[in-house]
Formats: sequence, C-alpha cells, structure tokens
Amino acid sequence: SSSSSSSSSSSSFDHSNTDNVVQNIPFTGRKRSLIEDARRDREVASASPGPSPCGDNLVFEEKSGKVRLSVLFALKNEKNAGFFNAGKVFETFEVKLLHLESRPGRQSKNGLSDDLEFFLKCEVPSSDIDIFINSLKRVADDVRTVQDERGKLPWFPQKISDLDKCNHLVTKYNPDLDRDHPGFSDPEYRKRRTVITELAFNYKHGDPLPYVDYTAGELATWKEVYRTLTAIYPSHACTQFLEGLQQLERECGYGEDKIPQLRDVSAFLRGRTGFQLRPVAGLLSARDFLASLAFRVFQCTQYIRHSSAPMHSPEPDCCHELLGHIPMFTNTEFAQFSQEIGLASLGASDEDIEKLATLYWFTVEFGLCEQNGAVKAYGAGLLSSYGELLVRANTLHMLGTLITPTHVQFSSTIQKAFSIRYDPYTCSLEVLDDVSKIQKVLGHMMEDLKILHSALERLGQN
Ligand SMILES: [Fe+2]
Repeated sequence: SSSSSSSSSSSSFDHSNTDNVVQNIPFTGRKRSLIEDARRDREVASASPGPSPCGDNLVFEEKSGKVRLSVLFALKNEKNAGFFNAGKVFETFEVKLLHLESRPGRQSKNGLSDDLEFFLKCEVPSSDIDIFINSLKRVADDVRTVQDERGKLPWFPQKISDLDKCNHLVTKYNPDLDRDHPGFSDPEYRKRRTVITELAFNYKHGDPLPYVDYTAGELATWKEVYRTLTAIYPSHACTQFLEGLQQLERECGYGEDKIPQLRDVSAFLRGRTGFQLRPVAGLLSARDFLASLAFRVFQCTQYIRHSSAPMHSPEPDCCHELLGHIPMFTNTEFAQFSQEIGLASLGASDEDIEKLATLYWFTVEFGLCEQNGAVKAYGAGLLSSYGELLVRANTLHMLGTLITPTHVQFSSTIQKAFSIRYDPYTCSLEVLDDVSKIQKVLGHMMEDLKILHSALERLGQN
C-alpha cells in the first residue's frame, strides 16, 4: 500500500467487513495504518503459526530430543559483522531456523543508530540449549528466551505497569521515513520531534507525565488549529463532544493561547471518567494501542504537526489527541465503550485484533451520529481535521451511513478461551479461571446490589 500524507493524496480503503458500510470514501494515513498494521501482524502470524511477536509469549516445547525455542536479540550498528557471527553460532549447534524477522531497534526509532532487533523461532538439540544461548550472548545484545508459564494463555498486559512493554511503533508515517510528510525536508522540525519523542521513550508507568515547553512557532500552529476548528464545532460536533470541550475550557485551561500539558489533562480526566494518559512516541501497533484502553489509559503524542500543514497531519499529533480525542473521554458512556474495545482485544487472535481495529476506526476515529435530525461527528479523526470534518460528514450523510457505539455488538463475537475482568481498585486484570475467583466477584456484586436496594427503598419512603 502506498503511504498517504495529505487529504488530497488519499486512497480508497477496501476491507471486507466494511464493504456494506462505506465504499470508495477516501481515507488518510492513520486510519489505514492502524487496520493495515493489524492485518500485517496477522499475516506474519499465519505464515508462522504460534505466538505473535507482540509480547513475551514465546513458546518453548520439547520434541524428541529437540527444543523449539523463540529468541529475541539485538545487533548493534558497530557490530555489523554480528549477524554473520550469530549465523556461525546457529551452524555450530545445528540449529534449525523456522522463522526469522527483524525490526528497527529501540535507538533506531529515534534515528540515532541502525540497530536491529531480531525475532526467531528455531529448533535446538535440548542438551545444547544453555551453551547455545551463552554463545549467542557473546555475539548479540539483549538475548532473551521466554517460556510462557501459563500454558496456552497468550501474553497480554495484566497490570497497568505492563503497558511499559506495549510500545511497538509503526514508523511509516514518521517524518524521518515518509517523503510525503510535511516535515520531511525540515531538519529543525525533525530534531525537535526527536527531543519530544525521547521523553515518551524514557517514560515508565508511575513517572510524572513529561512537561513540554512549547516554542512560539508551535504555539502559533496550535492557535491556528484551535481557532479554525472551534469555529466549526458548534455546527459539526456532537453534543457530548461540545460539553466535554466546554468543561476542558472552564476547568482544565483549554484555549487558543497554550497547548494543554498531558499531566493536567490526565488529572482532569481521572476525576471525570477514570481515564488517564501516557505519552507515546508515535503511531502504536493496533494490539498495543487497544490493550492500553483496557486499563482506561489513552496513549497521547506530544509533538505538534508541521507548521506548513496546520489543517492536516498524516499521523497523530497533540492537536489530534487534545482536540480530537480528549473531549469525548470526559463522557462516561464513551469511556466505557472505549474500555470494552480494549478488554475485548486482550489475548485476541490477530484476526480479531484486525476486526477491533476496524471497529475502533469507524467509531472512535471516524464515527458520526445523528442528533436532532442532523449528522454530527464524534470521531477524533474528523474533529481534528478541518477538511475531513467539513467534507466527510456531508459525504457520509448522502450515503446514509452512520455508525455509533450502540449499533455495535462485538464482545460476544470475539473468540477467546478465557474470561477476564478488570479490577479498578488495583488497575489489573484477573483471568476468571476457577470457581473461587468467580465467587469473590459475586461477593462484590452482592454488596453493590445491597447498596442499590437500600437506595431504592429510601426513594420509596420519600
Ligand atoms: Fe486517534
């Protein structure tokens, strides 16, 4: 698929699940990429049955004197010969390669080096396993083999701090890599981006959210975006969005003169709907992005779009997050819906992740609803782009297609071998795999029912 970086160079989006919903509507970068990324993950997984390389669920199984092993390792730029040395290790131990793939290493994402990370599945004689791993450690960095102790259960974040591991980025819309990106030929912009994304790369759960001291130029871009979009919101945005934005302007310092800081917005949202923010360096993989929603965590970029294209960005930026998404997260029902998509995604197959990414796309990013006989937007991709908001709403209106969360029944169609429940007190997930756990949850529900019962009785008495 070709990359797309402006609303004019859009291409049609074909997806079997959505054929009866919208056809030949041009879509821009981020939407396609979230869905395509999920599709690609699935293709990778089906080419090599087994765990997807998205977590630590690397299988380890005994097979007639041989061990099937999944290994992750990194090769540093300066050790260019490392790949061939690693090859010699495989040759020495008569390792049978079953699957091999590479991706840019952590540092490469900042454009600081050409490091690569490798993920491989192989078969090793079981007697040689320790010495094989030690030999590999001599020629490569960060060598990891992980055994999944929970048997068939796939890896997914179980507590909120596990989100530190959900940081797989899709870099194709990055200004360093995408020639069509408005910032591609602006070295100052790219340098600034590196500084801001570094804050996100270094962030760990529990750290204070990074503060960004925005420059005069960045503030000017924000002002232009803020003024232009807020002028058309009253006629184009749904009432829940408008109410959210009013609250943010009243109580959270939203306005055209300053770019709200993530830490202020996060504190505000926690008091409203329990959602909180985490900084992210760019476009996340669908699986990781959706997983964070299960914990009521929304991953936000902090850099701003290039000043030459204030009305459109090929990738998420702080205008998209703060103006497009955040007002809707002040709404209780929307917050609940978002968390449900997230919970459904945990441990789901790559095929189901693709379905959920599509659902997310047509609701949270590009959703429209009907209010008082008019079509209104609640999708962040529409609400953060002037052109999209004006044009798409009318196009979709003509086609008569509206998708709102209430039209969608998805949880029951996702096939999983286990049931999970979110515990808001500990911000963690519990797999309900034995009766005593279910009884404990029922106990909590009984307490809640007693409270509701006595509340109803008091109302009756009054
Ligand atoms: Fe978004």
